[in-house]
Amino acid sequence: MNSTRSNIVILTGAGVSAESGVATFRGAGGLWEGHLIEDVASPEGFARDPALVQKFYNLRRAALRTVEPNAAHRAIARLQREYQRGRVTLVTQNVDDLHERSGSPQVIHVHGELLKIRCTRCHAVHHWTEDITPNLACASCQTAGRLRPDIVWFGEMPYHMDAIYDELAAAQVFIAIGTSGKVYPAAGFVIEAARCGARTIECNLEPSDVSSVFDEHRIGPAGVIAPALVDQLLRV
Ligand code: OAD
Repeated sequence: MNSTRSNIVILTGAGVSAESGVATFRGAGGLWEGHLIEDVASPEGFARDPALVQKFYNLRRAALRTVEPNAAHRAIARLQREYQRGRVTLVTQNVDDLHERSGSPQVIHVHGELLKIRCTRCHAVHHWTEDITPNLACASCQTAGRLRPDIVWFGEMPYHMDAIYDELAAAQVFIAIGTSGKVYPAAGFVIEAARCGARTIECNLEPSDVSSVFDEHRIGPAGVIAPALVDQLLRV
């Protein structure tokens, strides 16, 4: 890395929140908090058992109150605030709010957010910190019983893809932290960044499914390797 202008894109996944106590998606034998991912993260699962899916996300939303950002979130926020040689764009697959709470000035949530709910009738999205109950009414169209978590489920279109691809094309450095590389399109961001000429760095507990595409690998817990990487990027 040299001192010329250099935009950075950071992609984070569940591994960045693991040390805060938020369960990863594929950590426990492929189950997410005891459920098959397809049962709680797909339109088909929601149609089959809406009560189960609402309860699942209500619990995840409530659990956010019991966790705090960790050293990896804080290091990324520090890089975003202090880096002088270009933009630092943060893209997260995480639906928690730990990047925001650690002081990140900008976060793109490609898979939605636990603290937002969406009306399936009028499509309005609202900030929401409580449970979604069966008769909860939409604050925009007043219709009851049509609210769902504003989470991108399997088979649905991830958010902000145009903006993300623009940033990948303009990046000189692409860093993935704590993601298994199993879910596309996010898993393919490294391929696009590399195609556009970025140097690519993977930070993870273990090699991901797309490890071979990265130029550099830093293996270890995000709470240790992210602060070290940020120190290095801010020193150059
Ligand atoms: P995964 O659970 O698939 O992968 C988490 C990765 O983080 C794994 O490679 C772990 O080895 C690594 N990891 C665990 N603890 C770590 C730590 N302390 N430090 C560094 N790395 C650690 O999570 P994602 O890749 O984020 O989508 O999953 C991608 C998407 O799949 C999620 O956004 C979600 C899920 O289905 C939707 O909900 C749409």
